[in-house]
Amino acid sequence: MTDLKTLVSLAKRRGFVFQGSEIYGGLSNTWDFGPLGVSLKNTIKNLFWHKMVTTRQDMFGLDSAILMNPRVWEASGHLGNFTDPLVDCKNCKERFRADDLLEQKLQKDKIPAEAELLNKMLKEMNITCPSCGASDFTEVRRFNLMFKTFAGVVEDKANEIYLRPETAQGIFVNFNNIVNSSRPKLPFGIAQIGKSFRNEITPGNFIFRTREFEQMEIEYFVFPGTENQYFDSWINEFMNFLTSLGISKENLRIREHSKEELSHYSNRTCDIEYNFPWGWGELMGIASRTDYDLKRHSEYSGVELKYFDPYTNTHITPYVIEPSCGVERLLLAIMFDCYYEETVKDEKRVVLRFPINLSPIKVAILPLKKNEPRIVEKAKEIFKIISPYFAVQYDDTGSIGKLYRRQDEIGTPFCVTIDFQTVEQDDTVTVRDRDSMQQERIKVGELLNYFKNKINLF
Ligand code: GLY
Repeated sequence: MTDLKTLVSLAKRRGFVFQGSEIYGGLSNTWDFGPLGVSLKNTIKNLFWHKMVTTRQDMFGLDSAILMNPRVWEASGHLGNFTDPLVDCKNCKERFRADDLLEQKLQKDKIPAEAELLNKMLKEMNITCPSCGASDFTEVRRFNLMFKTFAGVVEDKANEIYLRPETAQGIFVNFNNIVNSSRPKLPFGIAQIGKSFRNEITPGNFIFRTREFEQMEIEYFVFPGTENQYFDSWINEFMNFLTSLGISKENLRIREHSKEELSHYSNRTCDIEYNFPWGWGELMGIASRTDYDLKRHSEYSGVELKYFDPYTNTHITPYVIEPSCGVERLLLAIMFDCYYEETVKDEKRVVLRFPINLSPIKVAILPLKKNEPRIVEKAKEIFKIISPYFAVQYDDTGSIGKLYRRQDEIGTPFCVTIDFQTVEQDDTVTVRDRDSMQQERIKVGELLNYFKNKINLF
């Protein structure tokens, strides 16, 4: 694994991730995904959807609106409970998360975020301001993490709405729509991928914690009393999914939340954490949300959100298990885990060993001489043959050694080189394997089938 600085530099140099609004000096904590980044992100989402929705009979997809009726957030408890405990330094006026200050001082992972306890600890531990060194904080205040905006042109209280802080609520409020339109049998799940927004006071570590991010979420509805069994099976399902994306098992661990740490809607949560260069960090969470959300929405909306069980002839409120995964931080973990540096013929070779199905470019087409018309024509012909099936990149902008290094650095599994032998002798090209660096000659007429055998998109 490499360090964050090296990865950020590669991500920018090769077109994975750029700083947001860069030409205006940036906007802190915003990132834009370039040609390879968007491809990698889309592939991660497609693989999630394929594994969790397309290939399962018990899963249903949804794409709900980001903007929702503000009553949703009253019912879900986010208006009252989705907060960070903040303090201001009275001397320099800077604002901090009280639990962060204590975690740094005590070198501990998680401090319960309960205001009274935090006030007491800040005083007893004689915590000082990281900016000015004073030890004079305000009392802890709760700061809501939801971004607020206005619907329409009138900026008054009646038009206040929020950007969703989780995609999950779109699923809960559509529970009846999905039950009535798709007729699922319990247990069943609803999956959704989409953007969420949280006004974090301490975002950071590149794309690990951003205020705008994408989630892949599942709400899996089960008979009350069976939730523990499904909780465990979803942990297994996601451990398999994460390792299938090229993340090694040794860099993953499961961490159970303490009681104090649980979100307001959960009675049990486990994080799957990744061993980032700066330490273990949450990649995703699996939460047992009980019947909290469906019951609260039934109460606040006046619409019953229940499942009719034809076997017992009863209406029940299902319990729910929620696997929830951040797309950008998953992409970051994959990049760290697939990053290798090695020395080949006294030169440094950087390789992203993505699983083939994840690589943004599957086949690079590299004409050996860009000024030789026969070679260029053949290379373009090969581009036309392969590109309807696989993501292909045509590159003639350097020496062959340079072109190979470039493709290694973006994780392209196969490079095709068109040379004089191709056009003068036998209509074969070389295909170079990213990992072994071995080359073999393949007939142009057999090339597409060769790749169809080697590349599985799922
Ligand atoms: N829906 C769970 C979360 O956003 O963390």
